[in-house]
Order: sequence, then C-alpha cells, then structure tokens
Amino acid sequence: MKLQHLFGIAQLNKEQIHYLINMGDAFIELSKRPIKKAPTLRGKTIINLFFENSTRTRTSFEIAGKRLSADVINISASTSATSKGETLLDTAQTLAAMQPHVLVIRHSLAGTCEFLAEHLRETAIVNAGDGAHEHPTQILTDLLTLKHSIGDVAGKTMTIVGDISHSRVARSHLLAAKILGYHVRVVAPKTLLPSKVENYGCEVFHDFDAAIAGSDILYMLRVQTERLTSNCCFPSIREYHEAYGLNKKRLARANADCVVMHPGPMNRGVEIASDIADGAHSRILNQVEHGVAVRMAVLTAMCDLRFNAHDLPSNPDKRGTL
Ligand code: CP
Repeated sequence: MKLQHLFGIAQLNKEQIHYLINMGDAFIELSKRPIKKAPTLRGKTIINLFFENSTRTRTSFEIAGKRLSADVINISASTSATSKGETLLDTAQTLAAMQPHVLVIRHSLAGTCEFLAEHLRETAIVNAGDGAHEHPTQILTDLLTLKHSIGDVAGKTMTIVGDISHSRVARSHLLAAKILGYHVRVVAPKTLLPSKVENYGCEVFHDFDAAIAGSDILYMLRVQTERLTSNCCFPSIREYHEAYGLNKKRLARANADCVVMHPGPMNRGVEIASDIADGAHSRILNQVEHGVAVRMAVLTAMCDLRFNAHDLPSNPDKRGTL
C-alpha cells in the first residue's frame, strides 16, 4: 500500500481504509498476549510531536510503536523549543534531521501536516488531529470498533451529536461516510454547525429527539469549550444537556442494538449521562482499545514505505512476525 503520509481520510480510498482496518484487527490480539511485543518495527524511530493536549491519541501511538519494537520519542509543546520562540517549521526540520521514520503530529491549526510535509520530504507524517480539519486515526479506530459491533458499516446510520463545527472527528466521519457508504445525520444547535454542512451529503437536525429513531450509531461529541468564544453557542451547560445530552430516555428511542460512541475526552453529565457512558450500548472503551491496534497498523504502513525506499532488499526480517 503506497502511503507516504496520512493527512486525512479524504486521501484514502475504500480499499486502503479496509486494508488499514483489517491490519488493525489482526494487531488486536498482540495487546492481549502476556508479552505484548512483536519485532515488526524494530529499528524504526517514531517521534510523537504534540502541540495540543492528548491522552488517547498520544498514548496509543506510543504504546503501538513500543509494542512493535520501534523507538518512540514523545515531545509536547511545553517541552519543545517552540516555547522559546522557535518556529514550528524549525522544530520539525530539526527533528527530521535526526532521521526518524515517522513524525506523528497534533496541532491546533488545520493543514499543519500538509504544510510540514512540503518541507520534510524524507519523513513520513501522520496527522494525529489538526484543528477542525481531520483526525484520520480516530476514524479508523471507530471503523474497527464498528466492524466488531455491527459488521459492515455500509448502509448504516450514524447520528453525530454536538459541536460539529469544531470537530475534526465529525468532519472525518462525513468524509469516510461518502467513501464507505454509511449515512450520517448531524445534530446540533445552529451555532455549532458549520455553514453548508449539508454539502457533505448528511442530514441536518437541530432537534436531537427527531434524529434518534433509526440510528444504528449514536456518536456523541464533546463541546470544545477551548475553541469557543465566551458566551457563544448555547445558554448554559444545563440547557445544552437537556437539548443535546444522551440519556436513558433518548437512547430508548434508538434501534434496540444501537451502539454509543464518543472519541473522548467526554464530559459526563453534559453530552452524555454517566449510566449511558458506562452502559451496555457503550463502545467507548472499545474505541480506546482498538486505537492502539489501528495505530500499529498505520505505523506499519508508514514504515513499510520507508523500508521499501531505503532498506537492503536482502534483509529477510522486513516485517517481523505477528
Ligand atoms: N480522541 C482523541 O483524540 O482523544 P485525545 O485528545 O485524548 O487524544
């Protein structure tokens, strides 16, 4: 699979998405072993460069790399030289000069990864979330979780609820839905919807109760208060929860086997009630578990390209074993 960089779901076709999901599926078993180690990425160097906070994505990239025997280095904005005034590009070029195979980058600005890739031609770049643009590995994680929960996602209805306008996860799902053939409903107050969102081919609702019936997946989003201006978007957290929070009464209107997802971090009692987050329909921790496996698959795909380009053809241990 030719994958020089992973900027977003938009660059992938159906076969590439299924390839990564299926490889991730094969990697799940590794994390259940007593000794969680395979030599697949032995000799590879991966740098996680995070300019925004992260628990799930950063940790799962680190665990994924380490379980596959890569050398993994984590750098956050507060400990990088950008805090002394160095530009993003200088920081990235400095790290690239140390010859990592993959740079995993999270940044608040949309397009950061494409921008850096233009300057760092020899380093594979993976987007770990850029502004409100894309979060491709989260979507691959969700799709692997859905493969286990409901099988083929084609023809299914995913209802995404909450802060659509600031959500890279919502945007990536809207793009993935077109490629894989699932149907998306977006639900939000007008103040949290991007203009012309219907151009993505989704149904648009402002009334959550009207959108629930027929949903196979309820995908709840956090209100991204760090990206909102003050006094923006809704009167109060209590009123937001009343209008857009998922509770037992609302879940009862969905399909009986409806699954509940959330990319995290979640705000219990705001977009989702605790008993739903911890309940039988929830797949939230499955998403986290599968995040490690999918990131193993993505790192393997990225490193394979580097291997093909630079390694000796006689090396018999190209991929290692699972
Ligand atoms: N889903 C997600 O990106 O979570 P983190 O911000 O914790 O990485």
